[in-house]
Formats: sequence, C-alpha cells, structure tokens
Amino acid sequence: SEELYLLYHGLLVPKETHSLESLKFAQDFTFKDDDVVAVVYPKSGTVWMQEILPLLLNGGDLTPIHTIPNWDRVPWLEEKRIELVVDKLASPRAMVSHLPYQLMPPSIHTSKAKVIYVMRNPKDVMVSSYFFHQMAGFLPDPGTFDEFMNTFLEGKVLFGKWTDHVKSWKQTELGDRIMHMTYEEMVQDLPAALKRMSDFLGRDLREETIQKIAEHCSFKTMKDNSMSNFSLVPKMYLDHDKSQFLRKGVIGDWKNHFSPEQRARFTSVIQKELENESFTLPWSL
Ligand code: PPS
Repeated sequence: SEELYLLYHGLLVPKETHSLESLKFAQDFTFKDDDVVAVVYPKSGTVWMQEILPLLLNGGDLTPIHTIPNWDRVPWLEEKRIELVVDKLASPRAMVSHLPYQLMPPSIHTSKAKVIYVMRNPKDVMVSSYFFHQMAGFLPDPGTFDEFMNTFLEGKVLFGKWTDHVKSWKQTELGDRIMHMTYEEMVQDLPAALKRMSDFLGRDLREETIQKIAEHCSFKTMKDNSMSNFSLVPKMYLDHDKSQFLRKGVIGDWKNHFSPEQRARFTSVIQKELENESFTLPWSL
C-alpha cells in the first residue's frame, strides 16, 4: 500500500488523486471572503455536499449538477483537479476538503470564507469505507471486515484517524464562520438541514426552492445523475460491479455488519480517544 499512498504530515493520501504539488497548492490556497468549503472526513457525505452547495448558492439552478461532474463542479481543495478548474468556478465558489483543521491554508483565518463540517457516525463511515476499498482500484485491498476495522481504528486509512479529524474540527478559531452538520441530520430531514445551511450561508431561499433542492439531492436522484454517481469514471478506478459509490445512503447499516464483539471493541477505542474532549457525539456508539 506504500505505492498507493503519499505520506503528508503523517496522513495517508491516495496518489491517484493527490500529488505533493496538489497538497502544496492547497497549503498556499487563497480563500476569498465569499468562498464556502465543506470539510468532510472520507465517506461521510462529501459528494452529497458537492450536489447541495451549488444549488444553495445559485438558488436552485440545476445547470451545474446536470452539466459538470461533481469533482470539477465543487473540487477538492487538495486534489490534482483543482488547479485545472479553480479559475472557472462560479462565484461564490464552493469547494470540499478532507483535510484536518491544522492543514488548512492560513488564508482560512484571514478571509471570511465559511466552513461546513459534516460528521457521520464512525461505524457507518467504516462500513462505507470498507465497500469503497473493494471498488476503488487506487486504494489497497481492505482484507476482511475485521482486519479493516483495525486498519480504520489505527488510522491507517486515507486522511488518518476519524477521531483526530473530528477533534481538529471541533476546536477551531473560526467562530461563527463554521457550522457543524451531521450526515444523520441530512438523512432524517434533508429540507431542514438545507434550511439550516442556507441560513448559515446568508441565502434567503423560499420553502419551495428548498423542497426542489431536497428532491434533486435525494439519494435516488443522485444515484441516477451521471454527473454525480461516478459512472463516468473508468472501471479500473471505480468498479461498480464490486460495489456502488452511492451504495445505500442510510443510517445504521453498521448493524448489518458488526458482531457484538466488534461493536464493543470499536466503541471502546473511539470513546477512549474522545474521553477528555469537551464535545459529545450526537449518536450513541
Ligand atoms: S468520498 O469517497 O469520501 O468522497 O465519499 P463521500 O461522498 O464522503 O461518502 C459516500 C457516502 O455518502 C453516501 N451518500 C448519500 N447518502 C444519502 N443521500 C445522498 N444523497 C447521498 N449521496 C452520497 C454514499 O451512499 C456513501 O455512503 P454509503 O453508506 O456507502 O451508501
């Protein structure tokens, strides 16, 4: 797996999509005051935010989600593609990132850019990641579910330990420029989550616009959107016969995969790593 990853400040980063140059580009990035960045640990709703943000920012115009692939529409700050598309982004610009807080460019502090941090129950993150490793040709074979659980808990996965990521983003100096969202909140009541995000972004969207955006960002609609379901990516990179990128889109799929022993092990590791933190998780583990 050494061949598949770069090591960046102790984090494993896939070489297929990232380079030292792209990581440097992210480090030197100059945010504009009206930029919006959704920061998401892998498998916690990144691509969902790539659908949502343009619609919230443009008042529900479907053109971008129907004509631009998600990776160019709302690029990853740290990926190779951003250099090619950043100058073409409509203003206000929307981006996503998997980076922990300490690796954000300094301009996050000097600009007025806004951050939406999306968090998902780590058990579901791990399950989603397990299936993603099976389909992604640019990631190592995950081994058995039990083996992958250890890999995940040790943080030997892309962008490191889940607990480190969450901790970094729960204690920032961004004040009211950061909002915290959960994947679960979005699944349970997408219109309400969209309303909360649009208020944070200073958009005054009508109820019917929110409803329209929710419809177009539903799991089912996104699964059929070739600009968002990764069907444009060759099979050697993402093999949709092995698993789907938009796989299930539900809360609690971990219950179908964890044994009682695995649940106990997983919970105890996560709880121990968060025991001295001042925040509490929105779910019971
Ligand atoms: S990645 O590879 O890090 O960019 O993956 P990411 O997009 O963060 O996470 C993928 C999971 O998000 C689910 N997803 C959705 N769930 C519900 N509704 C919508 N609209 C939606 N869009 C994406 C996707 O199905 C993956 O979760 P799992 O549990 O594997 O289905």
